[in-house]
Amino acid sequence: MKPVKVGLLGLGTVGTGVVRLVEGHQNDLQSQVGSPIVIERVLVQNKSKLRNISIDASKLTEDPWEIVNDPTIDVIVEVMGGINHTKEFILEALAQGKHVVTANKDLMAMHGPEILAKAKEHRCDVMYEASVAGGIPIIRTLIEGFSSDRITKIMGIVNGTTNYILTKMSGEGASYADVLKEAQELGYAEADPTSDVEGLDAARKMTILSSIGFRTNVALEDVTVQGISSVSKEDILYASRLGYNVKLLGIAESQDGQISVSVQPTMVKQSHPIASVNGVFNAVYVFGEAVGETMFYGAGAGELPTATSIVADLVAVVKNLKLGVNGQQGVTAYKEKKLKTDDQISSKYFLLLHVEDRAGVLARITQVFAEFEVSLESVLQQPSPSNPQAEIIVITHDANKAAMNKVLHTFESLDVIRKVKSVYRVEG
Ligand code: NAP
Ligand code: HSE
Repeated sequence: MKPVKVGLLGLGTVGTGVVRLVEGHQNDLQSQVGSPIVIERVLVQNKSKLRNISIDASKLTEDPWEIVNDPTIDVIVEVMGGINHTKEFILEALAQGKHVVTANKDLMAMHGPEILAKAKEHRCDVMYEASVAGGIPIIRTLIEGFSSDRITKIMGIVNGTTNYILTKMSGEGASYADVLKEAQELGYAEADPTSDVEGLDAARKMTILSSIGFRTNVALEDVTVQGISSVSKEDILYASRLGYNVKLLGIAESQDGQISVSVQPTMVKQSHPIASVNGVFNAVYVFGEAVGETMFYGAGAGELPTATSIVADLVAVVKNLKLGVNGQQGVTAYKEKKLKTDDQISSKYFLLLHVEDRAGVLARITQVFAEFEVSLESVLQQPSPSNPQAEIIVITHDANKAAMNKVLHTFESLDVIRKVKSVYRVEG
């Protein structure tokens, strides 16, 4: 019944939740793992800061090395964020034989393979369930639940801030700028929301999910990224009229051993389960060759939802300690990474074109699609408020990305087109 001692790096939103759960659920945790779990030391930036949790002041330190180098500590829980210095602490902790639980998606997306290799070398666990989709146990599900299957598609709403913004724009017809301001005031978006709205946060999470799902090492640079800052009220209105919702989707696909990973605003058919994931909620849709469609839904952030994932990882580490099997069941990236080229990436597209309103325009446009063998599912023309301009909405059949790029390139110099107003990938 020797207690398992935890060094907690960070006592902000998530760290506070971890302390609450470890203390509040101590009896249940002990019953599951057979030992008390004790938060032994806690790293903060400022010891005198007023906290909304009561904690023994003698446990607090501003010196990370006091925790990393403490030989009595068994597990480091890293919830301080940051990349370079945090990586240094984690690598040193692993070198000293300490297990690590982290919520740090930035770190795991950029340095995951190095950290996991170090963990293996020292027979330590590194667990990072909270790094993607907060309280949804998606990482463990991909590693264990899908171990018998071959995953061909992972599609995720993995950023709550952007989903909140798009939901509000869609439901209330509000503008992007107004909703972003509101999201910041409500504390959903960061003070600098760039990584949320430009898709980088989602790209980091998709790097982690696709690496695990496809059992290979996907790098952040392999992910093509487009954020939501160019999504307009008009686009959302058109989408809705045609039976689609606009969502910032991370999409990872694998066919015949070749993969693609992207993040972009996408028009999702309203009948698809992921189209109705609203507000700050997250969801991850996974398609397995054998199982077919599955979807996982829940809170993607927040103190207690995120802490449930961290403490579940802690329980897993302690169970491994008891069994003496730490460092043995990590994710194995045993497949060689082969990225798809643009002519192998296929999807439907939505285009909104502002065009001259005169005879022959539609024919000129459809001729360009035909030239590059992009087949059309539907074409709709309507007058625009700014006559003599017209609007043409096109939805294509599945087309490869290379062909679509050629179509768009040709449109740039086509005299009848005033503006390619919007282009979206279509799903569902
Ligand atoms: P936070 O509220 O800003 O808390 C960060 C904590 O770390 C604070 O206690 C801070 O100390 C401490 N800290 C930061 N830098 C430090 C340094 N250089 N030295 C010592 N202490 C330092 O952050 P959070 O929202 O809890 O997020 C923590 C991590 O979890 C991040 O990696 C984040 O991406 C990830 N995550 C967060 C959520 C969420 O819902 N918030 C969800 C999923 C994943 P002080 O308290 O003294 O300032
Ligand atoms: N900024 C992130 C989001 C927090 O909006 O989803 C959780 O990682």
